[in-house]
Amino acid sequence: MYFKHKHILEAKQFSKKDLEVIFLEAERMEKIIWWKEKWNLLSGKIVASLFYEPSTRTRLSFETAAKRLWADVITVAGSEITSLSKWETIEDNAKIMEIYSDLIVMRHPETGSVARTAKVVNKPVLNAWDWAGEHPTQALLDVYTILKEREKLNNLKISIVWDLKYWRTTHSLVYLMWLFENIEFTFISPKELKMPKKVIEFLEEKNIKYSEITDYKEGIEDSQVLYVTRIQKERFEDLKEYEKVENNFILTPEILNWNTDITIMHPLPRVNEVSEEIDEMPNAAFFRQAKNWVPIRMALLYLLLISHKYCD
Ligand code: CP
Repeated sequence: MYFKHKHILEAKQFSKKDLEVIFLEAERMEKIIWWKEKWNLLSGKIVASLFYEPSTRTRLSFETAAKRLWADVITVAGSEITSLSKWETIEDNAKIMEIYSDLIVMRHPETGSVARTAKVVNKPVLNAWDWAGEHPTQALLDVYTILKEREKLNNLKISIVWDLKYWRTTHSLVYLMWLFENIEFTFISPKELKMPKKVIEFLEEKNIKYSEITDYKEGIEDSQVLYVTRIQKERFEDLKEYEKVENNFILTPEILNWNTDITIMHPLPRVNEVSEEIDEMPNAAFFRQAKNWVPIRMALLYLLLISHKYCD
């Protein structure tokens, strides 16, 4: 795609070639971070960082990415301090943000709200997660992490575990990894939190191998990547349903048979679903994964605001 001025709304919009371009830029950005430098690639630009739902990593990594490239940042953390709490529409809010900034990063609890914003503005809009929608920039850094940890993106068996219903990063990850050769997925979750039908139908349409199981001890053994998610208490309408599953799914080194050849990832935040003993294992990649948040987002800001890179 032609990156400049594009919106980033869903993982399915990317081609394999797009990923190559983003990852190449991210490697360049890593060098800036490595040298503890700031480059003035985005000097004079203003990034609006609008988070109407809680976030630590996504908001702060986007803001760090912007600052590393000399952009200025205006920020909202929580809708209660904005006029959205006075029933201003998403569209009016978007038109105001378009006046004040050159690019909008947005997380919002209403599905489709980020796409609605993109529809009424002529500045790039990045979806930083819209409730039942997607989290495409997380998926980009997840794939970048897999590449760095496994040194390949083809011929991989990927197990994705626990909350496959509510953790949209897992859906976005599927929508990117299918682009590569010989990928197989194992989905492991309690039956209440299974991968949604739309993702399963997508895999069937693309003829990608997958299996769905509930016993996590079975499905992990021969995978090269294990993507763990937190069971999100805040998404359950009935807390009794949460209590049924909350303590049954905890990853320990014993469950993994101390297997150090499986890359353990997690989008974070973690609560108790990965024991702290796992952190000592060399294949626990989740904090290295967190390190990739900033360069990937620097690459995106640069590509959307400045670069004339075109692919496909
Ligand atoms: N993974 C993720 O989106 O983290 P935050 O909610 O802290 O942004």
